[in-house]
Amino acid sequence: MIFFKKYKYNTEQELVRQIQILNYPILEYYTKKDSPHTYYSLFPSLRKHKRFDNRSSVIENNGKNNKFILLDDNGNQLSQKYLKNLKIKFLGDNNTVIFYAATKLLSETILTCTSNNLVNVKKTKYHLGFSTFNPLSEGSELIIGENTSIEHATFILWDEPNLKIEIGDNCMLSHNVVFRPSDGHTILDSVGNILNFPKNIYLGNHCWVGSNVTFLKGSLIPKNSIIGINSLYTASSNPVEEYTDGAIFVGSPAKIIKTGINWDRDNTYNYKKQNINTI
Ligand SMILES: CC(C)(COP(=O)(O)OP(=O)(O)OC[C@H]1O[C@@H](n2cnc3c(N)ncnc32)[C@H](O)[C@@H]1OP(=O)(O)O)[C@@H](O)C(=O)NCCC(=O)NCCS
Repeated sequence: MIFFKKYKYNTEQELVRQIQILNYPILEYYTKKDSPHTYYSLFPSLRKHKRFDNRSSVIENNGKNNKFILLDDNGNQLSQKYLKNLKIKFLGDNNTVIFYAATKLLSETILTCTSNNLVNVKKTKYHLGFSTFNPLSEGSELIIGENTSIEHATFILWDEPNLKIEIGDNCMLSHNVVFRPSDGHTILDSVGNILNFPKNIYLGNHCWVGSNVTFLKGSLIPKNSIIGINSLYTASSNPVEEYTDGAIFVGSPAKIIKTGINWDRDNTYNYKKQNINTI
């Protein structure tokens, strides 16, 4: 009898099968030298599976022409198909999901694609926490820029087809940030015209988004901006001048309270210490 992670297995083969089904990160256990009971030492027969890494983040593929692309730090495509904490389901055709192998996903992230979806998460040295919950509607696109960090964001791309949420490079998003490019239900005027068509959301480069911020349809956030904690950013928060950047937006609906600003990831104490000669 073999005991592993609370479960009992009658034979080693049974355990190995279970490891394959559950996608356990077996290589981690191989290399854990401090662990007294590694698979390696417990089950010599696993040695021959040195590249046992046949795991894949794609746990379901019911369509054609679906691609899950993992890149190394130089942007070259890897043969590896497994990224820790990522699970992908392809329900239809022509979906592309791109991640860097070094991406640190904070918790289990399930991406369910329908058809013609693009999820492109660029290289970042920071961690990312996000969910899309329901299957992405047909033609939905989610792009997360380089060196962006996210504590937790929800991207609502399941209501209507062909919507896009794009997050720029070097952004910093705090907890409980929501992007909602559609309302989910229809508002009509007295003669039946639809009043609330959905619109894409673009968060510019180097934006800092505080906790509990929600972005509604048509939000366009200029680069170097800050969105204050608990704010509700709507299309009417968008600056009138096309090229405004470096503004602080706060409130519900969010309004500009300061312009001509910039910000840094460091807290004020460390920033001051490191820039003592320039302040
Ligand atoms: C947006 C923020 C950075 C602005 O800081 P600031 O430039 O020092 O702003 P001030 O404190 O000078 O406030 C300016 C005005 O905006 C108001 N204000 C500031 N933040 C606000 C907010 N989130 N919602 C509503 N009003 C806000 C202030 O009451 C003040 O109003 P007044 O001029 O009538 O007195 C800050 O308010 C904030 O939201 N910090 C939290 C960031 C966060 O979530 N961090 C988590 C880690 S990523």
